[in-house]
Amino acid sequence: MIPLHLKKAAGATLQKQVYDEIRAAILAGTLKPGTALPSSRECARELKVSRNTIVLAFERLANEGYLRMRSGSGTFVSDPLPEECVGIPTLGSPELTEPFASSGGPKTPLYPAILLKLETLRMVQNGPGQHKIDFRYCSANWRNFPLREWRELLIENISRTSTNISGYGPPEGILELRQAIAKHVTNNRAIPVDPDQVIVTAGAQEALNLVSRLFVRPGVQVAIENPCYRGAALVFRSFDAALFPLPLDDEGACIEPLDQSDASLIYVTPSHQFPTGVTMSAKRRLELLSWAENNRAYIVEDDYDSDFRYDGPPLAALAGLNNNTSVIYLGTFSKSVGSGLRTGYAIVPKHLIEPMRQIKSLANCGHPWFEQIVLADFINGGGLERHIRRIRQAYSQTRAALLKSIHTHLGCVEILGAAGGVHVMATLPLHYPSARDVARVAAQEGVGVYTIETTGAFEIGASRHSRSLILGYALLSPEAATEGIMRIARGLRQANITETMRSPGLVARSVQTHVATGALR
Ligand SMILES: Cc1ncc(COP(=O)(O)O)c(C=O)c1O
Repeated sequence: MIPLHLKKAAGATLQKQVYDEIRAAILAGTLKPGTALPSSRECARELKVSRNTIVLAFERLANEGYLRMRSGSGTFVSDPLPEECVGIPTLGSPELTEPFASSGGPKTPLYPAILLKLETLRMVQNGPGQHKIDFRYCSANWRNFPLREWRELLIENISRTSTNISGYGPPEGILELRQAIAKHVTNNRAIPVDPDQVIVTAGAQEALNLVSRLFVRPGVQVAIENPCYRGAALVFRSFDAALFPLPLDDEGACIEPLDQSDASLIYVTPSHQFPTGVTMSAKRRLELLSWAENNRAYIVEDDYDSDFRYDGPPLAALAGLNNNTSVIYLGTFSKSVGSGLRTGYAIVPKHLIEPMRQIKSLANCGHPWFEQIVLADFINGGGLERHIRRIRQAYSQTRAALLKSIHTHLGCVEILGAAGGVHVMATLPLHYPSARDVARVAAQEGVGVYTIETTGAFEIGASRHSRSLILGYALLSPEAATEGIMRIARGLRQANITETMRSPGLVARSVQTHVATGALR
């Protein structure tokens, strides 16, 4: 029997109530396509209404396409349901975010509206991509994963799992891992860290979410580097932050514009700005700290790739310069171990320890125990240090080959960000086509190169980087990087794009590749 709840004294007629309830059951999927309905006679008897009431309601539903009445065999829910009649939202259909019936007449809400601003952050990038040689900016090269050591640690810890997995752990992360992270960051980034200040998160991405939950409400100003990491900008926007763009120059994010803002959070990537690669100067770091202190703002320092530094010692982290009072420092193991580990951390000023623990417990009651203990053992046993040393050397060789090859085959290209991380930004001279066109030519040569837009950067206003390529090199051997640049140069030549490149006045200028920190164009 169809579960109908008719109210004899209700405003709507009984026939309308039967119609509404059956239609709602079809839309909700309770009555599935193809389901046979009881006869009008049975329904009328069961519901104690006249048969005519049921017949008229069935006829209306049939006219609108919800039911099919076959003479001799009965009445069925239509299969398939005509979309123009029902518009049941399926996963991914716009109705899920705009939950209104699409048929004419007044709009009827089907579901509550989604209150968060949703924008897509596509991070999936497993294994080899579609290009033979891929300069994709990515987390870590899967070929480098320390499989043997990781397997040993998994086996060692498996016998301890049952007691640890049967209960909840501390939301801020297990002590062993927080101690290991505190030591790692103190040793490598000269930030004095107490393990209590460490909150273990599902990557830097979760840390950005937690921070936003604490400090962002609709209209709150969040200053961001422009361009910046898309994953950060979208999180802030999802909480309806008013984004305040800070332009970049060769010293990093500019501070003066902040005076025109009311920013209570300032999101920066000072070690290796994403995506431009600029390192924030020491002077700018001090100015930023001073602005934040004077204006009671927090700085969110995303130190996503500082494990990789090739030229000279890294500049001190903001969190290390500030006695940890106004800097929330974010770190991640995505670039060293791999982003599939989904483990990162926030190091917060002491007065934020409790609020961060509380917000983390509301989010997910803490990170999985097994991942944490294996990582803690990996760090404490020296595995992480050894692993980083090994891959840093490999990346450094690829980086050198890449720079040499750009110099030889592409000419006077301005390179930013070569001192660290796993990508550089290469800005092509004026006589080259746009980065988007170069990427198209490169793809025909089997080479993946990316623009600011296609790399996961977020930019407010007209782009000043239309000739900038983002070249990630974590996936490539030195030989592949060299070959990739040669293929791009060949593709440009074949597409006759080098006509202008070869014009005599330009040859002299195109002999030198800057590994520069010149002003960004
Ligand atoms: C600048 C920047 N911040 C944060 C992240 C996210 O890191 P996680 O994987 O730890 O969430 C990335 C990822 O590539 C990044 O490029």
